[in-house]
Amino acid sequence: MKQRKSTHQKSVYYYNQWKKRKIFVMLSLLLLTGSCFVLTLNSTTTSTTTSRILTLASLRSHFVVQKPKIAFLFIARNRLPLDMLWDAFFKGQESRLSIFVHSRPGFLFNKANTRSEYFLNRQVNDSTQVDWGEATMIEAERILLRHALVDPLNERFVFLSDSCIPLYNFSYTYDYIMSTSTSFVDSFADTKEGRYNPKMAPLVPVNNWRKGSQWVVLTRKHAEVVVNDTTVFPMFQQHCKRRSLPEFWRDHPIPADTSMEHNCIPDEHYVQTLLAREGLEGEITRRSLTHSSWDLSSSKDPERRGWHPVTYKFSDATPMLIQSIKDIDNIYYETEYRREWCSSKGKPSRCFLFARKFTRPAAFRLLDMSVLGSLRKATNKS
Ligand SMILES: *[C@@H]1O[C@H](CO)[C@@H](O)[C@H](O)[C@H]1NC(C)=O
Ligand SMILES: *[C@@H]1O[C@H](CO)[C@@H](O)[C@H](O)[C@H]1NC(C)=O
Ligand SMILES: *[C@@H]1O[C@H](CO)[C@@H](O)[C@H](O)[C@H]1NC(C)=O
Repeated sequence: MKQRKSTHQKSVYYYNQWKKRKIFVMLSLLLLTGSCFVLTLNSTTTSTTTSRILTLASLRSHFVVQKPKIAFLFIARNRLPLDMLWDAFFKGQESRLSIFVHSRPGFLFNKANTRSEYFLNRQVNDSTQVDWGEATMIEAERILLRHALVDPLNERFVFLSDSCIPLYNFSYTYDYIMSTSTSFVDSFADTKEGRYNPKMAPLVPVNNWRKGSQWVVLTRKHAEVVVNDTTVFPMFQQHCKRRSLPEFWRDHPIPADTSMEHNCIPDEHYVQTLLAREGLEGEITRRSLTHSSWDLSSSKDPERRGWHPVTYKFSDATPMLIQSIKDIDNIYYETEYRREWCSSKGKPSRCFLFARKFTRPAAFRLLDMSVLGSLRKATNKS
């Protein structure tokens, strides 16, 4: 009995001990979980705070210290003859711009052939031989965009030729482009000319076929769409072959029998058609910011006869010419009976920020006459 009692007592004791231990273990478990919870809580709050600080820092670096940039993408045959004009335009604005140059493979910008430091070490290293009027021009555009997209601060992408000039100072240009969330793409239905190759259907349907100037300004999203495109570009490569035209057709008089040609002029259809096909036309302002003058008259100068862009020479480069380009406030699209009244920030505005084509002497004359806003002043200041 004693034995049993003691056994019983013992077992009761053990039971109690066990119970106590259980409670202890449970309590400690609870405590442990609790503290773990608190710890996790603590660490999450810490990490949230940290990440919040980081986000704030990156936000600050994005929006305060580092401003959104405009990428200026130059497509040149060789060097940039108007480099000094752009030098004056860029001066003092380094934090708001980046520059990329596509020139013929093998041509290297150096101090001997460029007078502006802005263009040194700005060449893309994988440039392609551009044959005017072939899909290689589009490839050059895509190469430039690919390079420029690497910098997340680049928010707009402006294509420029080696004969383009800026019409205003940098601040005005920057505000004009950044004040809207749209791209600027000259784009209109191209029903007349029969440049569409029916072999592109159904991947590129004819109702998406658009025409317009290649000198576009793209948002980051649209730049990505162009770089990501694996459908429309191969169609252009395959079906847009230049036939007998020795050069970019607009730079030359129209041949007597155009029906012999099947050249879709890829660079004047690609971006427009791609954006239409992707259903993104609601995100573009359908006009170019770059003025070209198309000479349709029968000029006495045989070099200027036919439909091709006018090249302004030294004697043409007057304040009146620049003012007449700046004064344009609407563009008429004949094929669509559409008149595009230009506006910026919701107010009527000038249409063009850039103009082509200018020779080097013409551009220098404009720079000397301070015709292009305060470009000259900006140069003198520094
Ligand atoms: C171009 O430069 C980049 C970055 O420096 C490099 O990764 C790439 O291999 C180069 N491409 C060519 C074709 O040289
Ligand atoms: C830039 O040009 C605009 C428009 O021509 C002018 O109003 C503005 O004062 C100029 N800004 C500078 C910094 O010169
Ligand atoms: C383009 O492709 C990249 C990489 O696949 C992707 O991150 C990006 O969202 C794409 N952009 C668009 C606009 O489709």
